[in-house]
Amino acid sequence: MGKGHFNRMVEIKNLTKYYGLHPAVKDISFTVGDREVLGFLGPNGAGKSTTMNMITGCLPSTDGTVTVDGFDIAKDPMEVKKRIGYLPEIPPVYPEMRVRDYLNFAAGLKRVPRKDRKKQVDDAMERLHITDMQKRVIGHLSKGYRQRVGFAMALLGSPKFLILDEPTVGLDPTQVMEVRRLIQELSLDHTIIFSTHILAEVAAVCQRVVIINKGTIRAEDTIAHLEESVAGVPMLKMKIEGEMSKVTNILNSIDGVLGIDEVAFDSPGVNIFTVKVKNDNVRKPLVSTLVGQDCMVLEITSTKPSLEEAFVKLTQTGTTSREAAFEELGKKMEAERQAEEKAGKQKEAD
Ligand SMILES: Nc1ncnc2c1ncn2[C@@H]1O[C@H](COP(=O)(O)OP(=O)(O)OP(=O)(O)O)[C@@H](O)[C@H]1O
Ligand SMILES: [Mg+2]
Repeated sequence: MGKGHFNRMVEIKNLTKYYGLHPAVKDISFTVGDREVLGFLGPNGAGKSTTMNMITGCLPSTDGTVTVDGFDIAKDPMEVKKRIGYLPEIPPVYPEMRVRDYLNFAAGLKRVPRKDRKKQVDDAMERLHITDMQKRVIGHLSKGYRQRVGFAMALLGSPKFLILDEPTVGLDPTQVMEVRRLIQELSLDHTIIFSTHILAEVAAVCQRVVIINKGTIRAEDTIAHLEESVAGVPMLKMKIEGEMSKVTNILNSIDGVLGIDEVAFDSPGVNIFTVKVKNDNVRKPLVSTLVGQDCMVLEITSTKPSLEEAFVKLTQTGTTSREAAFEELGKKMEAERQAEEKAGKQKEAD
């Protein structure tokens, strides 16, 4: 099989995996473009690792195909494996070996020509900042450093595709930032799929995200879209002194105010209004109009949830509600897509 006209691209079609009768991955399809960083987002047990193991040829699929650079993993596994650097969930490092020896050995397994091995190992260690650790026994390294050795191993053989299964899990915040920076750096000349259960992580490094839950794709979208969908309508929380009906009338008369969501009593003559607004620009006219009509604005805060906050909500709650949140997100995005589609059809009909 020759190369397709899409150079360096991953194409996943109807990929399915059953463990016995249990479907871990059900009929998923998506593509990854050249030098794209795709986030593969999903809660525990969603099917991320199973999918990645199938893409890398470590696990046979029950059904479906994976093509890398035009090569089918089932027909040309060697051609595919040559092009992929894989950082599995648990890096397959030999604990009794020293870092350099291990990487050198791994370079051999990856068929890096003998004369290139030293340079490749040096480069990979440098990229992961583990040069100082090269003589250490892997089993004596901390988890973060072991993870880096696994990552360095994934870079050996200069593969163009990198598949990284939760590369930041278990790392300290500095290491997390480092790994994110590394992914950004690598994205200049690599195509990358990386999985995570952290929404904010996806926003930090990817252009596009595939959300998987319970083995099926719940959403596939750009970060910008996702952000909009997570954030929803921006709101302003305003503590206002003034007669309630008067304040209500003023609020409703202002361009950019979409509605009053809630009014809560604060103290006599003072209420807290939660107002749905088009965007933050409406603050200025809101405040000046209210003050101009003798209604004092005592406090004003923007309550638009950021992706970061959504992530905290998604990850700090228990698995069940996190799953529910993902599901909710998927449904919302699907509904939006359908609405868009409908709007498009309507336009065509007009
Ligand atoms: N070898 C296996 N045998 C049987 N079931 C399995 C096996 N490996 C995974 N599963 C099941 O398949 C489903 C998907 O698991 P997978 O490891 O792909 O999820 P994940 O998204 O990577 O989760 P995590 O975030 O916890 O790593 C789960 O329900 C899991 O229990
Ligand atoms: Mg996993």
